[in-house]
Amino acid sequence: MEPEQEYDRRSSSNVYYLRKTDKKNLDLPIKNKTDFNNFSEEDKAKKGLVLVEEFIKQNLPSIPVYCIRPKILKKAVGFFVKNFRCNKYQTDILYSVKSNPDKSVLKHLFDSGIKHFDVASLSEIKLINELFGDKVKMYFMHPIKAPEAIKEAYFNYNIKDFSLDSFDELEKILLITKNAKDLGLHIRLSIPNSHSAIDLSGKFGILPSESAPLLRKTRSHSSRLGVCFHVGSQCMDPVEYRNAIMIAKETIENAGVKLDIIDVGGGFPSTYPAMTPPNLQSYFDEIFESINQLNLAKGARIWCEPGRALVAESGSLVVRVEGRKNHMLYINDGTYGGLFDAGYPGFIYHTKAIRAKKGSSLSSNKIAFGFYGPTCDSLDTMKGPFYLPDDIGVGDYIEIAQLGAYSRSIRTEFNGFNQNLQIEVCDEPIESMYNVQKNQQNFNKSQTK
Ligand SMILES: Cc1ncc(COP(=O)(O)O)c(C=O)c1O
Repeated sequence: MEPEQEYDRRSSSNVYYLRKTDKKNLDLPIKNKTDFNNFSEEDKAKKGLVLVEEFIKQNLPSIPVYCIRPKILKKAVGFFVKNFRCNKYQTDILYSVKSNPDKSVLKHLFDSGIKHFDVASLSEIKLINELFGDKVKMYFMHPIKAPEAIKEAYFNYNIKDFSLDSFDELEKILLITKNAKDLGLHIRLSIPNSHSAIDLSGKFGILPSESAPLLRKTRSHSSRLGVCFHVGSQCMDPVEYRNAIMIAKETIENAGVKLDIIDVGGGFPSTYPAMTPPNLQSYFDEIFESINQLNLAKGARIWCEPGRALVAESGSLVVRVEGRKNHMLYINDGTYGGLFDAGYPGFIYHTKAIRAKKGSSLSSNKIAFGFYGPTCDSLDTMKGPFYLPDDIGVGDYIEIAQLGAYSRSIRTEFNGFNQNLQIEVCDEPIESMYNVQKNQQNFNKSQTK
């Protein structure tokens, strides 16, 4: 048993990782301690991973359970590595740690091919350093940083790349690094986020029309000059990337500077019931067709900083129904836990009901439900709709899909409800961008025959 320790102060000691080797010392809020020998030979062959439904039925957990699918992490990274490529420039994929900083997820990403990390805080820097040391590169892509964090990042963790969106931040970085000559400095542009579920355009970024003096001054102080932007998280229209790159083109031409890096940021989508995006390849096509129209410095590189698209579908969360009033279910996790996005941002998720009680099965008739989380706060409400069997009730479980991103990283201790368990499973995800991709390729192939 390995309770999570250093990284996430809010959830430390409340998260339990369950692996095959942990079976000796289980002391968990679950009813029957797992005997992994009960799984079929076929399941065991899948590297000791378990099946969600079997795990829930055998253990009847009283706390929420994160289910991580290593196979899907590998598939997602593989897709980016294979397809985020351009014939004119070299590319790099920077995983955005904030979307899921769980150690086992990070290790799977690393093993699958992620060697670059977009970090936003000293805690993230220390975490990545502790896990991977100098086998990876980190990039401090938070536009407004504490001086102490810049100092530690540059001098203790060998981080040379920083984003910024103002003269103040440029001066801060130069002062603290003692006018270092090996800096990669990346100007964050504010660009429209009109087709994204989460708008990130207001808080950071300099207006392109005002950026020329900052670009010129930064050019003269940096060994690598970059421009970065974020089209907003869960971007539903690939053309947004083309528009942003065209804004960047006009901006650098006006400033008369040559760029070494264009960083197209995150924003790549996952698939949710009310948000089925175009296939991921079409995002890359828009990016590279427009990048090819730019005249960048010799040896320039193109970066992206995906978070959600790499991890969302690898994780699901199983919650238990503690109460029911009409079409509202009281569940044991909520907006202060792993379901923040189901609250105010109003995300809807695919769900699957699991009846653990022996001798009865769930109705096949599905109706719309909303959820209440476990805390006393009325904001802990998720209106859904989440479609579930009409006879679902107390003691049943619900697996909620696509919660590998912005769930673990956002949890709080509020009202004392942060205990959770994490297991690795071999189930397919309830919904997949990457299978959609395959379907699309098959469809395209059948059209050309
Ligand atoms: C600077 C930066 N890069 C990358 C990301 C990851 O975005 P996404 O999860 O939408 O891919 C974020 C998310 O907020 C961000 O702020």
